[in-house]
Amino acid sequence: MSVIKSTSYSISIGDNSFTALNTFLEKHSYNYYFIICDEHTFEHCLPTLLFHSPLLNEAEIIELESGEDKKTLDTCLQVWGALTDTGADKKSLIINLGGGVISDLGGFVASTYKRGIDCINIPTTLLSMVDASVGGKTGVDFEGIKNHIGTTSEPKGIFINPVFLETLSERHIKNGYAEIIKIALIADIDFWKDLKKLKTVADFSSENIITKAIALKNTIVKKDLHEHNLRKSLNFGHTIGHALESALIQQNKDILHGEAIAAGIIMEATIAYSLKRISAKEQKDITDYISSIYKPVKISKETETLLLKYILHDKKNEGDDLCFALPKGIGNYELYCGVRLDLIKKAIHDY
Ligand code: GLY
Repeated sequence: MSVIKSTSYSISIGDNSFTALNTFLEKHSYNYYFIICDEHTFEHCLPTLLFHSPLLNEAEIIELESGEDKKTLDTCLQVWGALTDTGADKKSLIINLGGGVISDLGGFVASTYKRGIDCINIPTTLLSMVDASVGGKTGVDFEGIKNHIGTTSEPKGIFINPVFLETLSERHIKNGYAEIIKIALIADIDFWKDLKKLKTVADFSSENIITKAIALKNTIVKKDLHEHNLRKSLNFGHTIGHALESALIQQNKDILHGEAIAAGIIMEATIAYSLKRISAKEQKDITDYISSIYKPVKISKETETLLLKYILHDKKNEGDDLCFALPKGIGNYELYCGVRLDLIKKAIHDY
């Protein structure tokens, strides 16, 4: 098992992370446990967790409907209500068992209930293991805007067990792998060189790869929890990727976050090349590797119009300047404000 030290808590990764969880639970002697899950993690992950952590058999289970469209204040009301009705006190622990929707919402509920109670994350998807569960961003969507209401509030521990990945489809492993590619490109050239050799989904979700990706993200988050500067680097691929995801969701097209981010990385690498932040070879390497894993996303004229609308509304923009977190060479990044619209359009057309 690997243990990564974060600001004030640890991230335990590996088959033995249940032992680390049990030690944590014994040490803290909470009055009540609340496990927040959805119908998928209720069925596929909760029995495993309860088997390995018998203390949690006394936990209250709060089962939510799955889906980003349920990441709302209404669902929070439901959880705050359940906590209140069952007498949750300040010394209660919320356990977020699920993907990013569960840890975002559960973390937000925990950070606001009675002005804040403890929570831990047990992420069950590759995407939430390497990204959402780490870094203390919590929140819900509001009036169609993703993560509009939330807090920065770190969990008391993160327990990552690869056993939960066994029930994930190939598509959902790739969904998380896009964030691993991103972190390598902005933070560690050697890791990028290692990734380029990986071809199968088993490779993409190996414990070593997960551990390295988390260690890199954790280093960034520890230096800049509140995203004043360095943490912005984690947005590489996301200005276009997020906008593409929103555009396609608005058109009721089937798209996963990581698929949109993979496309976003390719397009933002084109911009980075146009701005001479990376070489032609580096751009080709990025495009070739990502294209060998992800099918291209189809961008119709209508999608492009929506995509540009969302890019212009991105919260990283400053005044009229369009801001992108771009690699500066591989393994480094630069926040580049003032990217011209024609460069963005060219990147979309080249894609
Ligand atoms: N997902 C980006 C961040 O945690 O900052």
